[in-house]
This record gives sequence, structure tokens and C-alpha cells, in this order.
Amino acid sequence: MPKITFITATGESIIAEGTSGSVMELAKQYNVSGIDGDCGGVCSCATCHVHVAPADFNKTGAASEIEADMLELDDNVIKFSRLCCQIEVSDAVDGVTLTVPG
Ligand code: FES
Repeated sequence: MPKITFITATGESIIAEGTSGSVMELAKQYNVSGIDGDCGGVCSCATCHVHVAPADFNKTGAASEIEADMLELDDNVIKFSRLCCQIEVSDAVDGVTLTVPG
């Protein structure tokens, strides 16, 4: 089963396992602090912003154009930023580490 590690703004590390749905939904399931998913996963709120570990960025891929537009509104954007509702849980992202910006 794909495993995803979330690191919260306070440094807590949460290892989540799931087989389907979005990474945002998985984070909610595991009560990852800082991932709110206010818009329900339709790429219109940026409350699911994460920083992908640079070494894992090839697994998640870069943000889509719509996603990048939404990210521009967020202060803590880096080049490894993604909105995790736009990442599907699958074997492709097994082992990635995502940090919730402070
Ligand atoms: S949950 Fe709203 S943009 Fe991801």
C-alpha cells in the first residue's frame, strides 16, 4: 500500500497509508495539522498546500497551470509546492515526504 509521510509545521511526522483518493483526503483521514481542504479538493482554496521533498518531486510532478495560479496567492510558495488535493494516492507517489508550510 502506498505510504506518504507528512511533516507538520511543528515537526510532527505522520506516516499515512492509503490506496485511493487524493493525498489531501488521506491527510484529513490522518488529521494532519495544517491540511484543511476547505474547498473539498477542487483546487480553489490552497488550504492543502504542501512542500514536496525535492528528491520526491519527480514522483509527484509539478503543479498544473490552474494549480500554480492558485498557489501564487499563498505566501509560502517554493518551487516544490503542490496542492495535495491535486495528487492522487497511488504507487507512483509511494514513499514521498510532504511538509506542511508553517
Ligand atoms: S483542497 Fe482546496 S485547493 Fe486543495
